[in-house]
Amino acid sequence: MSEAITEPAVEAAVEAALAAIAGAHDAAALRAARAEHAGETSALARFNAAIRDLPGDQKAAAGKLVGGGRARVNQALAAQEQTVLAAEEAARLESESLDVTEVASRWRAGARHPLTMLMEQMSDLFISMGWEIGEGPELEHEWFNFDALNFDEDHPARALQDTFFVDPVERHLVLRTHTSPVQIRSLLTRPLPVYVAAVGRTFRTDEVDVTHTPVFHQIEGIAIDRGLTMAHLRGTLEHMARSLFGTEAQIRLRPNYFPFTEPSAEMDVWVTNLKGGPRWIEWGGCGMVNPNVLRSAGIDPDEYQGFAFGMGIERTLMFRDDVRDMHDIVEGDIRFSQQFGMVV
Ligand code: PHE
Repeated sequence: MSEAITEPAVEAAVEAALAAIAGAHDAAALRAARAEHAGETSALARFNAAIRDLPGDQKAAAGKLVGGGRARVNQALAAQEQTVLAAEEAARLESESLDVTEVASRWRAGARHPLTMLMEQMSDLFISMGWEIGEGPELEHEWFNFDALNFDEDHPARALQDTFFVDPVERHLVLRTHTSPVQIRSLLTRPLPVYVAAVGRTFRTDEVDVTHTPVFHQIEGIAIDRGLTMAHLRGTLEHMARSLFGTEAQIRLRPNYFPFTEPSAEMDVWVTNLKGGPRWIEWGGCGMVNPNVLRSAGIDPDEYQGFAFGMGIERTLMFRDDVRDMHDIVEGDIRFSQQFGMVV
């Protein structure tokens, strides 16, 4: 026998429902309140179901009483649902919000290495003069690195360069000690006249210190044509120096020895932008290509002559940009590269 449908009973059920609804502050609590106070087993649902058992003359009044109570409860549920949804939306927005004024942890942008930039500048310079760019392997045959360049088998000059010989020795492979083997490769593969510049990696058995690194770079130039003289060599080097170090730069040649050039010279460059004032700096080697080298490449030295030069690129970067320590060049710290301004 269900509870009688009286005004106080219905009012009590409605009050209990409203209190539960008002206390439901999230979707789950509201769902529970709805099930308990408006669901099929709720007091109000039971009152509603009991109406049909009432005598006919009481049905209308009971229906109005229970219907009114259910309507109030449903309104309260709908209103609270809006409140809960709005609160949950606000909480979600809050949790997803970004402080656009916060200092972001930044990705460090890369920067091109100043050596790369200098090598490109040098290559561009020779391309602008109509020269071609030559290449050769870093793992080089001894014949190209030494023999074809007129290093005698037993000549002490072969020992002048601290060579990485590669096992097995019978294969006669070395890590090229200079870019000069590209002279031979260029002469063997190109029709004359030849004007070739080659920029590349070279290797010698040095420890890394303030001025040395076992892996370094050189630029090589070779020009073979009819009637080339030392004057053309000088002019070329002077032009190169001025475009790299400014119009004040000058070139000085001092006698020296290389097996592959005759006469050979050490070249100095007069650089004016140095911290300690203008100075002559030893820059590289050069000379007129030795007739024996031309013969190695099948060229008749009576018909063609030419000059060659080679210099270290790390060294050039060091005195041009006042880099005091080779470690800065080889270690790859981005902060070093960024000083040179070319951020990618
Ligand atoms: N290959 C020489 C060196 O590494 C430099 C050089 C190049 C000298 C061309 C003369 C001509 O020391």
